[in-house]
Amino acid sequence: MSKKIFSGVQPTGNLHLGNYLGAIKNFVELNNEKDNECFFCVVDLHAITTKQEPKELKKNIRETAATFIASGIDPKKSIIFNQSMVSAHSEAAWILSCVSKIGWLNRMTQFKEKAGKDKEKASIGLYSYPVLMAADILLYDTTHVPVGDDQKQHLELCRDIAQKFNNDFNAPEFLRLPEPLIQKEFSRIMSLKDGLKKMSKSDPSDLSRVNLTDDKDQISNKIKKAKTDPLPIPSELNDLSQRPETANLLGIYSSLKNQNLEKSINEFNGKNFSEFKKKLSEILIEKIEPISKEIKKLLKDEKYLDTILLEGSQKADEIASKKIKEIKKLVGF
Ligand code: TYM
Repeated sequence: MSKKIFSGVQPTGNLHLGNYLGAIKNFVELNNEKDNECFFCVVDLHAITTKQEPKELKKNIRETAATFIASGIDPKKSIIFNQSMVSAHSEAAWILSCVSKIGWLNRMTQFKEKAGKDKEKASIGLYSYPVLMAADILLYDTTHVPVGDDQKQHLELCRDIAQKFNNDFNAPEFLRLPEPLIQKEFSRIMSLKDGLKKMSKSDPSDLSRVNLTDDKDQISNKIKKAKTDPLPIPSELNDLSQRPETANLLGIYSSLKNQNLEKSINEFNGKNFSEFKKKLSEILIEKIEPISKEIKKLLKDEKYLDTILLEGSQKADEIASKKIKEIKKLVGF
């Protein structure tokens, strides 16, 4: 069955290994499956839910598009575009926010994490962010949404919003309920400095993540400095439960090698970290360095990147503008 795929990445800089292994690597696989129709969106409207410097934002929009292409997404096969160029996203977000319940949004853990202690100072956009995300997905009759584990709750909300809209306007199955595509393993990559914290763009320590623009030396330096524990690599999966840093590094290795955790444990069983880290650096450099080099090359050609985004947005707009017209009609406009 052909799938309709939609996913988005925020252009907030420092795209990292977590974004790659949790999401972008899957985008590439879905792009390569024969009959899929894929939309990969640079979600710049989501980015401004926290303060962005305009020049930096523009650069990061291009860099996110460059990362998609450098990772292997073919802009001739998949639609790469930025959200702010397709006005239906903002319009649909408003309409859907009028059917969404405050109680639903109050449960969103990502808002609580991002807003921190002082919720009163967070923007309204940050609060209603998941409704815009639902609009993104629902405008394209998406069947599948590939994301990392941290977006699971937002996708459940998206399904609730779709169902509520369909019920409220007596339009069964009008908005299609999407299925999340979250990998069973390695869908949450943790910080290199703290195995209990998610690898994140906003971590002040650059040593906490491998950025997709890092070069060979930066990668091997970060792996050398990555936190471990004093024990050798275990022989049993169960022994990892109390060792979050070791579990994370072995997870990264396994994901890059496309093998399960058990196989990696068998490979390094009883060995010390210096040997494992050497192999981990090697595979990271093999997989990430070519992407990093290609991103830098693509960034030199701003015109090419702008054209990809413009053409992608025109194609996305054709589809999204039809759907928003139908939405408006159902609402009574
Ligand atoms: P964003 O920009 O925070 O992250 C982009 C993708 O990377 C995944 N990810 C991770 N996966 C594993 N381990 C990590 N440490 C890690 N950090 C990030 C995220 O799960 C995500 O898949 N709300 C979305 C963007 C969005 C979207 C959408 C996604 C907007 N509209 C519609 C899907 C469909 C976000 O903030 O992603």
